[in-house]
Amino acid sequence: MKIVKVKNYEEMSKRACSIILEKVNSVENPVLGLATGSTPEGLYKYIIDAYKQNEVSFKDVTTFNLDEYIGLDKHNVNSYYTYMKEKLFKHLDIRPENYHLPNGSADDIKKECEQYEKLIEQAGHIDIQVLGIGVNGHIGFNEPGTPFTSRTHVVDLAESTRLANARFFDTLADVPTQAITMGIETIMESKTILLLVSGEQKAEALARLLDGPVSEDVPASILMEHPNVIVIADEAAWQ
Ligand code: PGA
Repeated sequence: MKIVKVKNYEEMSKRACSIILEKVNSVENPVLGLATGSTPEGLYKYIIDAYKQNEVSFKDVTTFNLDEYIGLDKHNVNSYYTYMKEKLFKHLDIRPENYHLPNGSADDIKKECEQYEKLIEQAGHIDIQVLGIGVNGHIGFNEPGTPFTSRTHVVDLAESTRLANARFFDTLADVPTQAITMGIETIMESKTILLLVSGEQKAEALARLLDGPVSEDVPASILMEHPNVIVIADEAAWQ
């Protein structure tokens, strides 16, 4: 595991951006795994800037997002589809058929999960997966207790996750109770993993990942067993 300590959120985002650009510019038909939430917003801004400066093209890039809420239409303002469209995709030359998120409104959710796995496999697996970490140590929406052998599946969101995400919704009751997420094994098949950690609210989760045992109680702890992980964490996350 390579650990990069940076001063603050901006520096974390810039460093992450240069790693992503390097990957996109060096791999043929790159496959990116992407995340939502507050953590990668800065990274996406820097990617858009780089695209505008002609430093990179996403014409041959395929992407897979980690997760999507169940029960929100994809055009809902709080869906992860809308997040990705607004904060990244619509600003780039990525082809609409090349970006993927699980469909949380699918009639047959189990089939949707299986299909998502198949698409990732057909794309040749993820070259680099961007990850945030939950305050409870989750990755994607794999909450504590999720088997390390899990594939893309439906999850009941932990109360702490719903509370953490309530800031994007009018009320806590509006936060969906379920989501589809890539499984832990699916994430672990990514060739490289880029974990971004910012802010003191993540300090405990980061410490449990770095110092604690590898345990399903801390989903992110499995990253210790991945051969190619880069963690970029800011000073606040180290306290
Ligand atoms: P955040 O979420 O980036 O909004 O803090 C990260 C996560 O829950 O994985």
